[in-house]
Amino acid sequence: MLSLQVRGVNFLKVLLVGGVFSVSTVFAQSGEKLDPALIKKGAGIFSQNCSPCHGPRMQDPQGAFDLRTFPPDQKPRFLNSVTKGKNQMPPWGGLLNADDIESLWAYVIAGEKP
Ligand code: HEC
Repeated sequence: MLSLQVRGVNFLKVLLVGGVFSVSTVFAQSGEKLDPALIKKGAGIFSQNCSPCHGPRMQDPQGAFDLRTFPPDQKPRFLNSVTKGKNQMPPWGGLLNADDIESLWAYVIAGEKP
C-alpha cells in the first residue's frame, strides 16, 4: 500500500515536471517566426540605440533591465514599453517604426549567440 502511494506521487511529479517543461518549450518555439534577417536587423538597431543602457549584445546591462530575462510570452508589454518608454527609459516610438521594434523583439527573443 505504502509503496503504491510513493509510486503514485512520483508519477504525479513526472507529469507535473513534464507539463511545465513542455509549456515553456512551446513558448520558446511558439508561433513567432524568427526570420534570421529580422534578428540581424534588430541586433543592428540594438547596438545603435539600446546598447548604451542595456549593454553591448545585451550583456552587462548595469542598472537597466536585463533583456536576456525578458519574458518571451509578454510581447505586448515589450512593444508598449519600447514604444512609450518606461520610467528612466525614453520612448522610442518617435524614432523607430513598428517594423524596427518588431525586429528588436526578434533579437531579444532569439537571444544573443556568443
Ligand atoms: C537611456 C538608457 C536606455 C536606453 C537607451 C534604452 N533603455 Fe530600455 N530600459 C532602460 C531602463 C532604466 C529600464 C528599466 C525601466 C524600469 O522598469 O524602471 C529599461 C527597460 C526596458 C525594457 C523592460 C520594460 C518592461 O516592460 O519592464 C525593455 C523591453 C527595454 N528597456 C528595451 C529597450 C530597447 C529595445 C531599447 C533600444 C531601442 C532600449 N530599451 C533603450 C534604459 C534604457
